[in-house]
Amino acid sequence: MKITVVGAGAVGASCAEYIAIKNFASEVVLLDIKEGFAEGKAMDLMQTATLNGFDTKITGVTSDYTATAGSDICVITSGIPRKPGMTREELIGINAGIVQNVSAALIEQSPETILVVVSNPMDTMTYLAHKVTGLPKNRIIGMGGALDSARFKYRLAEALEAPSSDIDGMVIGGHSDTGMIPLTRLATRASVPVSEFLSAERLEEVREATKVGGATLTKLLGTSAWYAPGAAVSTLVQSIACDQKKMMPCSTLLSGEYGLNDICIGVPVILGRNGIEKIVELNLDEKEKAHLIESAEGVRKTNDLLG
Ligand code: 2OP
Repeated sequence: MKITVVGAGAVGASCAEYIAIKNFASEVVLLDIKEGFAEGKAMDLMQTATLNGFDTKITGVTSDYTATAGSDICVITSGIPRKPGMTREELIGINAGIVQNVSAALIEQSPETILVVVSNPMDTMTYLAHKVTGLPKNRIIGMGGALDSARFKYRLAEALEAPSSDIDGMVIGGHSDTGMIPLTRLATRASVPVSEFLSAERLEEVREATKVGGATLTKLLGTSAWYAPGAAVSTLVQSIACDQKKMMPCSTLLSGEYGLNDICIGVPVILGRNGIEKIVELNLDEKEKAHLIESAEGVRKTNDLLG
């Protein structure tokens, strides 16, 4: 199993690290445009192999796409991250051109690959990758929902004073401060709805803290987060690589599901060796449906900027 990660910045390097530590891939190629940077990150990571007990071979290259040839899965993290006070949508001007070129270069070397898009604004970059490559919809996956759901579960565990392993929950909708829809109605602690333990007001606080999860970290760190994004990518990539068929929310091209068309937005999917093997249609209540429509309108506004 060969996996390419484009962008050796904090998010890309963290993806490569978590993928290697989970020890399911034979090879990870890290590619960056900055001379020697990916080579350095790869060497540093390889020097953790005996310490962390993995056999994945990590190599770094500067802009040499031929080294990525025959990749089963390619992860795109390239582009600029947000700075404090910025929205993900504001990154479109620079990141659209980068994602367009990177997607085309990857497909040229690995026509059968599955693309995982992480660059922001993620839903729009996933949509752009579809337009550029024309790949079947099961082979382009936007990573946002898995990360947002992890942040939702963190906030729920905090509110419940419960161990993380007790918590289950999901965030659908756009990967943006206003577009995320934490599904508190369906979230559970040890199979019991969280509404049994938390007041409506406390659940609203959890929802709001989840939606600004990325912005809160950007303010603290001065740039966007990397550990949870890297871990979320590695979980998603492992489900594909090992055909685990895990269900998690990802940005996917919708063709009528949830009443939406020609848009990439976060909904639950089953991830296996063929990428998105199924889009799961949840039975949303009227309020959740309205939130999803509203969230899709936000994503479409950003998509329109691609023109
Ligand atoms: C985040 O939310 C990078 O969009 C990513 O941290």
